[in-house]
Amino acid sequence: MRSHYCGQLNTSLLDQKVELCGWVHRRRDHGGVIFIDLRDRAGLAQIVFDPDRPEPFSIADTVRNEYVVRITGQVRHRPEGTVNRDLATGEVEVLGHSIEILNRAKTPPFQLDDENVADDTRLRYRYIDLRRPQMQDNIRLRARVAKILRNFLDDHGFLEIETPMLTKATPEGARDYLVPSRTHPGAFFALPQSPQLFKQLLMMSGMDRYYQIVRCFRDEDLRADRQPEFTQLDIETSFMDEKQITAIMEEMFIKLFKDAINVNLPSPVPRMTYADAVHRFGTDHPDLCNPLELTEVSDLMKQVEFKVFSGPANMTNGRVAAMRVPKGGELTRKQIDDYTAYVANFGAKGLAYIKVNDAGKGREGLQSPILKFLPDEVIAELLKRSRAETGDLIFFGADKAKIVNDSLGALRNQIASDLTLLTSQWQPVWITDFPMFEYNEEERRWDSLHHPFTAPRVTDPAEVEADPGKCLSRAYDLVLNGTELGGGSVRIHTPEMQRTVLRLLGMGAEEAEEKFGFLINALDYGCPPHGGIAFGLDRMIMLMSGAPSIRDVIAFPKTQTANCPLTSAPAPASLKQLRELGIRLAKPGKTE
Ligand code: AMO
Ligand code: AMP
Repeated sequence: MRSHYCGQLNTSLLDQKVELCGWVHRRRDHGGVIFIDLRDRAGLAQIVFDPDRPEPFSIADTVRNEYVVRITGQVRHRPEGTVNRDLATGEVEVLGHSIEILNRAKTPPFQLDDENVADDTRLRYRYIDLRRPQMQDNIRLRARVAKILRNFLDDHGFLEIETPMLTKATPEGARDYLVPSRTHPGAFFALPQSPQLFKQLLMMSGMDRYYQIVRCFRDEDLRADRQPEFTQLDIETSFMDEKQITAIMEEMFIKLFKDAINVNLPSPVPRMTYADAVHRFGTDHPDLCNPLELTEVSDLMKQVEFKVFSGPANMTNGRVAAMRVPKGGELTRKQIDDYTAYVANFGAKGLAYIKVNDAGKGREGLQSPILKFLPDEVIAELLKRSRAETGDLIFFGADKAKIVNDSLGALRNQIASDLTLLTSQWQPVWITDFPMFEYNEEERRWDSLHHPFTAPRVTDPAEVEADPGKCLSRAYDLVLNGTELGGGSVRIHTPEMQRTVLRLLGMGAEEAEEKFGFLINALDYGCPPHGGIAFGLDRMIMLMSGAPSIRDVIAFPKTQTANCPLTSAPAPASLKQLRELGIRLAKPGKTE
């Protein structure tokens, strides 16, 4: 039906006849001449209808926004002074010879260039929302990224292999989406939280290098970078250690960013231990574009008179940390109060601070309600460690380490954003040397920091059992600009170690057998050392496109409460369906 895409027109086509199809983006009446901006996937073209040709002119007069039309016409230069440099096709226009209305459209519920449409409305009319040029760019970028990744992995001997969607629970820390079985009444499939167990089984099957661009399902609290169904680039390899796995992934990322968005990522990608990241930034996914850092001062505060500091400084799981804000002396009282309220969201009981009016004058040059509690030598060391300069402000957090890290870590991001401290570069970093476990106070047992199949550094199960809290794992995360893009590990490949780890997680032998017996059995039949990683494809494309949410890079995403306004899913099931599945609802009346 067409000879060109609208967005392809340029001066190389001058005087040529073209046939275009698309949507009426805008129709303008200019003193007897009608202009139509015709839009398709590739861009916009301006079509001019002259009253000299009464038939097409009268049809053009009746079209409205979002009508689907086919036009024929001749390409010509735009008249002097009307060239639009902002538009790829802005040097030319098409003199319309004919126009055919292929379909009419109701007035759309929002204008495509309206930036302030409610999320719910955007999702309800997603087919219109997706017509926006920005959304089209995002979806196109997504396809390009997938192609580049596939090509790279194919070139490096990875096989794309599909794994089941109707399966058993995978422990990635979220709730499962369950699917009732009709043929096995009372039994349920779980949708995979990841293909973790299957990709390990594929290594035991001798596939050597596996990848999959795969949907994962997690019923968890949603945020801007989380969806109930999302896509992973999932990878597993045999006979490779963490150095080799991260090296090949790094090569893939550097190529991806170069080829897809022409960004040169730093090579090699820097590495940081988990302990370092938490100490310096309060988080294991630090944004290294942000120059602010925490300074450890727990040791300095052990003896001070100020109980707010000396208390946590003397606790085993306590921490006192300082964060210097360059030029923070300019913060107003109100701003400091707002930040104090902000950190309270993370459990902080206050936000002590010191203003550095003159760094050369010691105590005399400082201003703070807590100064009187701190001896001279502590003040001198504090200024030295935090590298405070005249005009700066130093904030403090003192509490359980988790509260200090969460609150100062978040404050660090907030202040960098408020004071526009972020450097605009791309800052990837590998985080390594994660602890194997963290203690779950509530349930009085250990939790995996990564997942239960991650290998510890030590190879003797007895050593793991002796002091689980000290044990480091062979896991690694790739963080980009403060977002965790992906994580993986070298896996446990002996049944003894796997049983030990499951036991430490509070799983009895019977439960371990019931949940993961198939995996533990497989470890007994010739399992190669193996390891891998999974990247959040949606997050990756969100960062590459600059989109504020992963919803903007997924064609049909869900809302914050995990529903789809377009299809009205989830929806009640009919009584017949429920009966077939052997399900009776606790609250009757919720069926169709
Ligand atoms: P993990 O649970 O870290 O690892 O997931 C890998 C990556 O997937 C992305 N991600 C999400 N993206 C959008 N919405 C979500 N709800 C969501 N949850 C996770 C993140 C994350 O880094 N099987 C292991 C990987 C392995 O060990 O190989 C796993 O799934 O970007
Ligand atoms: P107070 O003695 O409670 O008046 O607190 C004195 C200063 O210490 C105030 O600026 C408080 O905001 C701050 N503060 C109180 N508790 C903490 C805490 N846990 N961490 C950091 N600062 C705190």
